[in-house]
Amino acid sequence: MKHLHLVGLLLLSFPCLLLCAGIRREAEALVKWKASLASADESLEPWSLANSTSLCTWTHITCDLAGHITKLEFDLTNLSGTLDELDFSAFPHMEELIMFGNGLHGTVPAGIGNLMSLVELHISLNPYLTEIGNLTSLEALTITSVTLTGSIPPTIGMLTKLRPMMVDWNTQVGEGIPMEIGNMTELNTIYLRGNYLEGHLPGTISHLVKLQELYLSENQLGGHIFPELGNSSLLDTVKIAENNFSGLFPSSICVGGALRVVDAGYNGFIGIHHLTFQHCTTLQYVDFTANNIVAELRDCFTEHPGSLVSMAFSQNQMSGTLLTDRGEDFLCNRTSLNFLDLSSNALHGGLPKCFWDMQNLRFMDLSNNSFSGVVPFSMTCQDNLRYLLLASNQFTGTFPLGLKKCKTLFALDLGGNNFSGRIPSWVSMSLPELNFLRLSSNMFDGIIPHEIFQFQQLRVLDLSKNKLTGPIPDDFTNLTGMAQEQKNIAFIYPDRYLFRVRIQIIWKNVDYVYYLLIASMAGIDLSGNYLSQEIPKGITALIGLRYLNLSGNHLSGCIPEDIGNIVLLESLDLSRNQLSGKIPQSLAALKSISVLNFSSNRLSGRIPTGDQLRTLTNRSIYSNNPGLCGFPLEDCINSSTPAQTEKSLDEDREALWSYCFVAAGFIFGFWLYWGIFLSRSETWRCAFYQYVDNMQGKVTKKVYSCISRFWAGGSE
Ligand SMILES: *[C@@H]1O[C@H](CO)[C@@H](O)[C@H](O)[C@H]1NC(C)=O
Ligand SMILES: *[C@@H]1O[C@H](CO)[C@@H](O)[C@H](O)[C@H]1NC(C)=O
Ligand SMILES: *[C@@H]1O[C@H](CO)[C@@H](O)[C@H](O)[C@H]1NC(C)=O
Ligand SMILES: *[C@@H]1O[C@H](CO)[C@@H](O)[C@H](O)[C@H]1NC(C)=O
Ligand SMILES: *[C@@H]1O[C@H](CO)[C@@H](O)[C@H](O)[C@H]1NC(C)=O
Ligand SMILES: *[C@@H]1O[C@H](CO)[C@@H](O)[C@H](O)[C@H]1NC(C)=O
Ligand SMILES: *[C@@H]1O[C@H](CO)[C@@H](O)[C@H](O)[C@H]1NC(C)=O
Ligand SMILES: *[C@@H]1O[C@H](CO)[C@@H](O)[C@H](O)[C@H]1NC(C)=O
Ligand SMILES: *[C@@H]1O[C@H](CO)[C@@H](O)[C@H](O)[C@H]1NC(C)=O
Ligand SMILES: *[C@@H]1O[C@H](CO)[C@@H](O)[C@H](O)[C@H]1NC(C)=O
Ligand SMILES: *[C@@H]1O[C@H](CO)[C@@H](O)[C@H](O)[C@H]1NC(C)=O
Ligand SMILES: *[C@@H]1O[C@H](CO)[C@@H](O)[C@H](O)[C@H]1NC(C)=O
Repeated sequence: MKHLHLVGLLLLSFPCLLLCAGIRREAEALVKWKASLASADESLEPWSLANSTSLCTWTHITCDLAGHITKLEFDLTNLSGTLDELDFSAFPHMEELIMFGNGLHGTVPAGIGNLMSLVELHISLNPYLTEIGNLTSLEALTITSVTLTGSIPPTIGMLTKLRPMMVDWNTQVGEGIPMEIGNMTELNTIYLRGNYLEGHLPGTISHLVKLQELYLSENQLGGHIFPELGNSSLLDTVKIAENNFSGLFPSSICVGGALRVVDAGYNGFIGIHHLTFQHCTTLQYVDFTANNIVAELRDCFTEHPGSLVSMAFSQNQMSGTLLTDRGEDFLCNRTSLNFLDLSSNALHGGLPKCFWDMQNLRFMDLSNNSFSGVVPFSMTCQDNLRYLLLASNQFTGTFPLGLKKCKTLFALDLGGNNFSGRIPSWVSMSLPELNFLRLSSNMFDGIIPHEIFQFQQLRVLDLSKNKLTGPIPDDFTNLTGMAQEQKNIAFIYPDRYLFRVRIQIIWKNVDYVYYLLIASMAGIDLSGNYLSQEIPKGITALIGLRYLNLSGNHLSGCIPEDIGNIVLLESLDLSRNQLSGKIPQSLAALKSISVLNFSSNRLSGRIPTGDQLRTLTNRSIYSNNPGLCGFPLEDCINSSTPAQTEKSLDEDREALWSYCFVAAGFIFGFWLYWGIFLSRSETWRCAFYQYVDNMQGKVTKKVYSCISRFWAGGSE
């Protein structure tokens, strides 16, 4: 028995001589490469020649049954160095090479072409693309890097077994897509997003009968899309946004019968054949945002109510109405539709009543068209409606009563229409989740209902340019959304439609299209109304506000003393009111203020000073007030310390009284005394003090110049 064992061992050891030499070469190649690294984390510790007999137990590698390395994987490992010293020819059995997020830099050496068995290559380093064509066994390829250079070589056509090809976000891959891509007949996925690819889409792509996903967004590809693109019966997704494609979008895109997603936004397409979508029964997501498409809206919808979930045709030249010639609405029986963006086109007509019944509708943007008429009434509002943007149309009538049941509404924009009547008091109760409310540039009148400040989540309230009267309501305790610093909204509401929501606000004097996605924003704009009385003091509790615009009203009284509490404030416009008294010293606490406007009021006294206020040097922001002084306007009489100023003011006052007392003192003093103490209105008292303040300022100035002339004369 023992002899038999010995014979067996001898028989076995002969192939081992060859086999073991191969394995030893693999171990040596790895150890040599390890030695070339500037640093490596502890996971590479077992890599040592002393351990070469147990190669298959080393970290980061996988072996086959014979003990050869089939997989080398550095995924999220902390290495520093290059691949230059890695001898790829030592790994004839390597099937997978995975190198992501590991700190290696430089290029993948040409020797990678020796990995004749390689089936999967996933790297975030720069390979010499020309060598990729040698890897003829390759079935999956991912290259992501920010510095990949060169072009896709024609030899890529040799990779006839490749299924997914993902070469995304390599900002320097230029030139065109080689026509040889048509030889890679196993391809099911092409990701070439975010490169610098130019030229036309090669027609040979239509040979890829197994193609399911084509992602070419964010390149510089141009020309027409060849009609056969749709021939693959497996084609599911075509994403070609942000290129320079032009011409008619091919009418045969849905011939294959499986197309689900088309994203062709931000190109130069000029039209869509009216039959294009008629056969697209499987289409779910359609995006043609920002092309130059001249078409009838109706031609962009298949007759099959089918599966359509989302369409975006914003920023084109679509015409037509939401109704057909027969007066029916062709949208409402698309029951799966949840996203509809038709903004910035030339659409007209009314909003059909049945839109309230679209169960899945979550986002509707009809802004910047010529829609008109009254928003139809409905007793119901579907639970899904989150975004309703009807701005810049010609809608009329009162605040739409149908909204009363829209409990889930998150953003409502009715701005720039011809809505009239009162703002209903139920808005905050009925729309508890509202974060953005824009009613600006309409004909709303009457008072602002005090319930408006019961929105707990509201971040942006824009009621500007209406005909609102009465005071600003003054209980802000429930306006918690503005009483704290806003976090980036995207983290709080993971909603893929948020990034499509654009709302126009005026911020820092600029008409600004504001994406909700970057919504750390919070602000109130009540400008351009007829609001009166004082600015409520409670507003200073809204410490999350980044802008406040009360310009162009009839507000009077003093600016709230604690205005400086709103520390995040970047833009404050109180111009064109009747505000009086001093500008509160707390203003100096506004560390972020970059746009400020107090012009055309009745303010007086010294402008507060502070580091940030010092940077606001435009004098016009204080202009047209009777008695303001200090930087950036003229100094307040003299620039000595406040204590001295007060003292000299006292002295001046004495001088004044001694001049004027005999003539007018008695009458004036009597009036002053009773004026102040009889008045119970704080507003009036504030204005009166300010009047006296002004008088005092003017007279002291005279006396001061008189005295200085006297001294100047005396010293001559
Ligand atoms: C051999 O590998 C083991 C772990 O597999 C490790 O603990 C040991 O330190 C290695 N030996 C040498 C000499 O590096
Ligand atoms: C990687 O290693 C370097 C030095 O060896 C070290 O400074 C760095 O913090 C490490 N990084 C991580 C993510 O562990
Ligand atoms: C890659 O293939 C080309 C021919 O296509 C050949 O000339 C070259 O030597 C090969 N490179 C390697 C490393 O095998
Ligand atoms: C690729 O296909 C073309 C035809 O489209 C053929 O002429 C060419 O020889 C093929 N190239 C390679 C490298 O196989
Ligand atoms: C694409 O399909 C159309 C009809 O659906 C057919 O006429 C044409 O020959 C096909 N083209 C290719 C390249 O398969
Ligand atoms: C886009 O295509 C048009 C022709 O359709 C061409 O005139 C223009 O130069 C192209 N723009 C870029 C950036 O390639
Ligand atoms: C859509 O609804 C209208 C009536 O509202 C109906 O006439 C039409 O046939 C419906 N379309 C489909 C495709 O069901
Ligand atoms: C409104 O649409 C026109 C073209 O229809 C466009 O030029 C304009 O920029 C759009 N305005 C906004 C605010 O989107
Ligand atoms: C707005 O509606 C009023 C009637 O409520 C009408 O008199 C006025 O002409 C409309 N304005 C515009 C710009 O459509
Ligand atoms: C604040 O909200 C609570 C709960 O919704 C309500 O009871 C209270 O009346 C509100 N306060 C004001 C001042 O609106
Ligand atoms: C305040 O609103 C008015 C319009 O009502 C606008 O002209 C002004 O630019 C706005 N101020 C700021 C600072 O944005
Ligand atoms: C301040 O507001 C007035 C009136 O609203 C305006 O005319 C002026 O341009 C504004 N100044 C600045 C610097 O924005």
